[in-house]
Amino acid sequence: MSNQIQSQNSVQGRHNVIIDCDPGHDDVFAIGLAASFCNILGITSVVGNSIIENTTTNALIAADVFGLQNVPVLMGAKTPLSGNVDHVTQAHGASGLDGPARRTPRTKLDSRDAVDFLVETCRSNEGIWIIAIGPLTNVALAIRADRTIVNKIAGISLMGGSITHGNVTAAAEYNIWFDPQAASEVFDSGARIKMCGLDLTDQLTVTGKFASELKAISTDASQFCAELIDYYQGYAAKIAGVTGPDALLVGAPLHDPCAVLALTHPELFTSERMGVKVETTGTHTLGMTLADTRPWENHSDSVIEVMRTIEANEARQIIVNSFKNAK
Ligand code: RIB
Ligand code: CA
Repeated sequence: MSNQIQSQNSVQGRHNVIIDCDPGHDDVFAIGLAASFCNILGITSVVGNSIIENTTTNALIAADVFGLQNVPVLMGAKTPLSGNVDHVTQAHGASGLDGPARRTPRTKLDSRDAVDFLVETCRSNEGIWIIAIGPLTNVALAIRADRTIVNKIAGISLMGGSITHGNVTAAAEYNIWFDPQAASEVFDSGARIKMCGLDLTDQLTVTGKFASELKAISTDASQFCAELIDYYQGYAAKIAGVTGPDALLVGAPLHDPCAVLALTHPELFTSERMGVKVETTGTHTLGMTLADTRPWENHSDSVIEVMRTIEANEARQIIVNSFKNAK
């Protein structure tokens, strides 16, 4: 019997997606965008911004906020295949979603194993995009379990890595650094990848003005997400050392929504096919995504499409409008 599943709000012409995430303030915005523009077949949580119990609860809260109660939410890996377990609680807080008053989710956790769900759903629904916006542990485990899914999925649109600077170290971006072994296996799997690295996602920043625009929409989702931005943008101002009224002017990068927009609004981006390798050892470069930019090396046939630029103003407006249209 086919396990062909359709999301509750399947709309012709939308991408069928599974979101693998570690909510995380920016993960929530990615889920909200996907709710507006994709058919979400499932949401799988992974350890990353917080412990798996928190990222899973936060995924359930996001499902509540965006009316996705009929979308399966499943708990994934609690530890990385390799690498460092550091939840950078300063960025997202102890709960992984600090800021708004803590909610008890109404959406119930699906008891199935997240990796089994990823494998089964990708096997029986050809052409799915996996939107991976946390460490790549679940995705790597799914590929290990059944390599054929690499050819059954349309691809993986991921937030991770960078072809310039890091954030958790000078060389490495957090999602990759947290599980370099998993990331290396995914990048080397042969799957088609849209890579939104920090050099791209740092272009999509939001300030206090963005929170004010959300507050003016006055829905539960917009109010909740405005409070997420208040916390997240406040942290950006703090690490920038800016206080007082100017603190609201500091831009906070909204990383994860880029991986959704790369699928739903490709016209906002420029991209380049590149050879990319993940460093799984190295004293100073662990977790680095090394792009081969040697001009004599031709990577035009690479399955890895590195997103280079984004029209940030349009992207911010699409995000705000998605809350207005969801009213
Ligand atoms: O480096 C940014 C990434 O790390 C984002 O996915 C954010 O949610 C955190 O997981
Ligand atoms: Ca994330």
